[in-house]
Amino acid sequence: MRLDKFLGHMGFGSRKELGALIRAGRVTVDGMTVTDPATPVDPAGGGVAVDGRPVAFQRHFHVLLHKPAGVITATEDPRQPTVMEVLPPELRRRDLFPVGRLDKETEGLLLLTTDGTLAHRLLSPRWHQPKRYLAQVDAPLGPGDEAAFAAGIALEDGYVTLPGQLEIVGPQEGIVTIYEGKYHQVRRMFAALGKRVVYLRRLSMGPLVLGDLPRGAARPLTEAEVEALYASASLSHP
Ligand code: URA
Repeated sequence: MRLDKFLGHMGFGSRKELGALIRAGRVTVDGMTVTDPATPVDPAGGGVAVDGRPVAFQRHFHVLLHKPAGVITATEDPRQPTVMEVLPPELRRRDLFPVGRLDKETEGLLLLTTDGTLAHRLLSPRWHQPKRYLAQVDAPLGPGDEAAFAAGIALEDGYVTLPGQLEIVGPQEGIVTIYEGKYHQVRRMFAALGKRVVYLRRLSMGPLVLGDLPRGAARPLTEAEVEALYASASLSHP
C-alpha cells in the first residue's frame, strides 16, 4: 500500500496534507526518512513512524465521546455544530461516523466507529443490549411509572416499546434502561406518562460505560471494550 494511503487510513489527514507531511521529512519507514508519498509500505507489518512515533495499523477505529448538549449527531452540517467538531483533532479520522443518534440536547455516551458492519449490527432491532439513561423530568415519579416501564409503554404513534426498567433515584429523576432505540424513545416514553424530560444523559450502551469521562471529552475504546462490543454484536473481532 502507498505510504500516503496508509497514513490516510490511520487518520493522519487528507492526501494533500499527507503529501506535505511526508515531503517535510516527518515520516520514517523502518527507521529511514522517506519523502515520496508513493513509497510502498506493508500496512500490517508496522515500521512507519510520524515525528518519531510508531503508527500501529488498525483496520477499524472506535471512539467513545461524552457528547455535550447543543451539538447534533451528524458528521457534517452547514448550520449547527456536530459531534465531529467536539472530537480532538487526533481522533478525527475521516471515515469515523456516529452509531445511532443522541438528540441535540441529550448528553452522554456516543460511540463513533469506522466499521459499518459493526454499526449496522448495533443499530439492528435485533441488538437487544441494554441502554441506560439518567433522566430528569418535570413532575414527580412514582411506582406507577416504574410499573409502566416494566410493562412496555404505548407511544403516541401506537408502537408499544419492549419492557424496560425505571429506577427512581430522586423525586423527579430516574435511571431508565431500554433494549431498543426508537426515535426520541426515552422522551416519548415519559411523554406517554404525562411527563416531560428536562435533562437526559446516556450512561451506557451494551458493554460500553460512560464512567467519569468528562463532558466533551473523547477517547479510543480500549482493546477489552472492542472485544466486548464485537462479542455483543455476535461478530468476531477483525
Ligand atoms: N431517547 C431520547 O429520547 N433521546 C435520546 O437522545 C436518546 C434516547
